[in-house]
Amino acid sequence: MYNKPKGLYLALPSPATYARGPFSTMPSIRDIAAAKSEARKLVMVTAYDAWSARLLNDTPVDILLVGDSVMMVVHGERDTLGATAEIMATHTRAVARTAPDRLIVADMPFLSTRKGTAHAADCAATLLRAGAHAVKVEGISGHEDVIRHLVESGIPVMGHLGLTPQWVHAFGGFTVQAKEAAEAAKLKEDALRLQDAGAFAVVLECIPHTLASEVTSLLRIPTIGIGAGAGCDGQVLVLHDLLGFNPDFKPRFVRRYADGATFVRDSVTRYAKDVVSGDFPGAKERFGA
Ligand code: KIV
Repeated sequence: MYNKPKGLYLALPSPATYARGPFSTMPSIRDIAAAKSEARKLVMVTAYDAWSARLLNDTPVDILLVGDSVMMVVHGERDTLGATAEIMATHTRAVARTAPDRLIVADMPFLSTRKGTAHAADCAATLLRAGAHAVKVEGISGHEDVIRHLVESGIPVMGHLGLTPQWVHAFGGFTVQAKEAAEAAKLKEDALRLQDAGAFAVVLECIPHTLASEVTSLLRIPTIGIGAGAGCDGQVLVLHDLLGFNPDFKPRFVRRYADGATFVRDSVTRYAKDVVSGDFPGAKERFGA
C-alpha cells in the first residue's frame, strides 16, 4: 500500500524516489495552506509548455502557474488581454502532461469572471479538464459571488490583488499599486474578502512591501508575492524573467539567475557556424556505415 508522503516537495527525500502519475507527490492545496502555519516559504514559477514543465517538475518548486502572461512572454503581445479559455487550456495541457508532481494553477482569462457564474464555471472547468488543479482570479470587486461559486463547486481559487494585469488600461500601465492610504485600505479589505470567499492563497503583485507584510499577517491563507517584498509567505516569478531570456525586460523586482539570452544566441550561433563550415553533422551524427 502506497502512502502519499505528507508535506511539500522540500520536505521530501527525493522526487525521483516516488512514483509518478496517480502516485504523484504533488502538493495539494492543504499542503499549501499548511506551509503558512509551518512558516515554510512557498515557491511558484510560471510554466507555459511541456519542455520547461518537465524540467521544473524536478526542481524544488511547489506550484507551476500557467499565467496569462503567456500572451506577452510567448505570444509577443503587449498585455494579457488576448488570453482565452482555449489558449490557456492548450498551455495548461502541455504543462500537465510533463509535470505530474507539481500543483498546477491556471489563470482565468480576461473578463471570464465578469460574465456570470455559469460562464466562469465553464471556463474553470475547461482549465481543470486540461490538467489544472486550481485557477487564479484577478481582483474581487464585482465578482466575489463568482469566486464563491467556483470554490463551492470544488474548484480551488487563488486570488490576485495589487497590480492585476487585466486592469492594465484602467491603471494606465503596469505600475505599482496601493501606494495611497485609501487604496492600501481597500486592498486589505479585498484580501480579507478573498479569504472569506474561500480562496486558498493570494498573489500580491507590485505593492509596497510594508503593505504586503501587513496583509500577510492579517490573513490565514498564504500570500505569494511578486514585486511585494520578502514579507510574503512565498514568491512567484515569470520563468523567462528569472532565466534572463528577455534582455530588454529588467524590472526592479526580478532577480536573474541565468543569462538565457546569451545562452540561446551563443548556442545557436555555434550551431549555425558548424552547419556553414560543414562541421555539423559529423560522422557520429549520421546514419549508415
Ligand atoms: O500571469 C502571470 O504570470 C501572473 C504572475 C505574474 C503572478 O499572474
